[in-house]
Amino acid sequence: MKVNTADIVISAVSKKQYPKAPIPEIALAGRSNVGKSSFINKMIQRKNLARTSSKPGKTQTLNFYIINDQFHFVDVPGYGYAKVSKKEREKWGQMMEEYFSEREQLRATALIIDVRHKPTEDDQLMYDFLKHFGLPVMVIATKLDKIKKGQRQKQLKLIQEVLEMEDEDTLIPFSSETGEGKDVAWRTMLSHLNL
Ligand code: GTP
Ligand code: MG
Repeated sequence: MKVNTADIVISAVSKKQYPKAPIPEIALAGRSNVGKSSFINKMIQRKNLARTSSKPGKTQTLNFYIINDQFHFVDVPGYGYAKVSKKEREKWGQMMEEYFSEREQLRATALIIDVRHKPTEDDQLMYDFLKHFGLPVMVIATKLDKIKKGQRQKQLKLIQEVLEMEDEDTLIPFSSETGEGKDVAWRTMLSHLNL
């Protein structure tokens, strides 16, 4: 996929701010600081369109990006960051529920998981939450550059088993550092987007 244009449309906190263009959409979910924004940047070959940070909790809104005027990427705020108040957590929950239950254009979600670790309880809850809306989930096992080649199969198997991934869902080993997995990720996304 050749990306010619990529722009931020809006940072939304509620439904009425979502873009109205009737184009298909892919959302990115995952633990705080796991590499959601880096995934978007790598896929579209922009250094810093989606803001990344070594500090967790950078993305606090639903950030809609438009790619080639053809589809949206939606960068969703991460979960599992200890230093958030109960109030913030509730706000996050409402925002997620509103988006995932009502967004008609949504075609699939890329759930970003750190390939180095066993998926957390929050990761498992998120996978189940997403499946409950009946859409495909692409599980992106990122930071592949951080483990030895010999560890890969074991870690990938662990992720698949802990999440109890359904057959229709694809597990894609990926690295935002090296770009490994990018072609498979694009192919899978484009098929979900019907492009
Ligand atoms: P929040 O928006 O805070 O939830 O974080 P995020 O999930 O968007 O993570 P972000 O993309 O900001 O990345 C967090 C940190 O991980 C940054 O320091 C990135 O450079 C680093 N990182 C992300 N992906 C990779 C990867 O594939 N390999 C390596 N080595 N580092 C990565
Ligand atoms: Mg982010």
